[in-house]
Amino acid sequence: MGRLDGKVAIVTGAGSGFGAGIALRYALEGAKVLVCDINATTAQTTASHNTAALSAFAMDVTKRADWDAAMQECLARFGRCDILVNNAGWSYTNKATAEVTEDEFERVFDVNVKGVYLGCQAWVGQAVQRGEGGVIVNIASVGATRPRPGLVWYNASKGAVWNATKGLAAEYGPHQIRVNSICPLVTATGLFSAFTGMEDTPDNRAKFTSNVPMGRIGEVEDVVNACVFMASDEAKFITGVNLEVDGGRCI
Ligand SMILES: NC(=O)c1ccc[n+]([C@@H]2O[C@H](COP(=O)([O-])OP(=O)(O)OC[C@H]3O[C@@H](n4cnc5c(N)ncnc54)[C@H](O)[C@@H]3O)[C@@H](O)[C@H]2O)c1
Repeated sequence: MGRLDGKVAIVTGAGSGFGAGIALRYALEGAKVLVCDINATTAQTTASHNTAALSAFAMDVTKRADWDAAMQECLARFGRCDILVNNAGWSYTNKATAEVTEDEFERVFDVNVKGVYLGCQAWVGQAVQRGEGGVIVNIASVGATRPRPGLVWYNASKGAVWNATKGLAAEYGPHQIRVNSICPLVTATGLFSAFTGMEDTPDNRAKFTSNVPMGRIGEVEDVVNACVFMASDEAKFITGVNLEVDGGRCI
């Protein structure tokens, strides 16, 4: 018995990093998954690992028309969509606010906040109409509540996700739709260099662990495990929670 047997999910940014890990594990736990990414090639690569359960779909989370197309594809292919994982994210490279361009500011809010807004709008109608509840998992960041210098506007975008998670949970709770976010610590994915402003080397990783009580950076599996739990019925009375997956960093 898989923990997500019979469920259908959309996972954005599933061509790499957390998203790829979430899509693959959801499939192992019995779900069918639309593997969405702006990069068609990487989405296809993720989907190729389990063609029975995963289907790739190229889409840009900042475009309403792409969301409508993704939902249509999911419903046509799998008949429903129980779980939405808003994982796609982007950051400019770590630097002071004075150096952040207007284009970078707009992109960080477009992908990280508008993408979640459009995703929820596209997904929620069919979930409410089906009347069987549903789950939204947003990937925020420890920076949502513990911002540090150098990623101020990225962290502000994740603060918006953190706040929207609670608002959405209150708004859609009566429909048995749960909305939670996961707040990861720095993890060695494609975004490591952007977050740290440094190459992803063992030395540079070690610099980030000095004030983490559990003494390491994150692993993709840490976030994947939390996303399985939040999507499963084990979390059936948990909503509006922003769960830090950070080895104690935010204490
Ligand atoms: N890696 C970390 O240290 C860390 C820490 C905290 C939060 N996060 C968050 O985790 C999420 C996943 O990041 P990751 O670390 O796996 O990075 P990643 O770069 O490996 O993956 C991000 C994916 O999102 C896709 N993407 C980017 N813009 C898109 C768009 N407009 N439409 C559709 N897809 C798009 C990319 O192509 C990529 O496949 C992001 O929301 C990120 O902000 C990451």
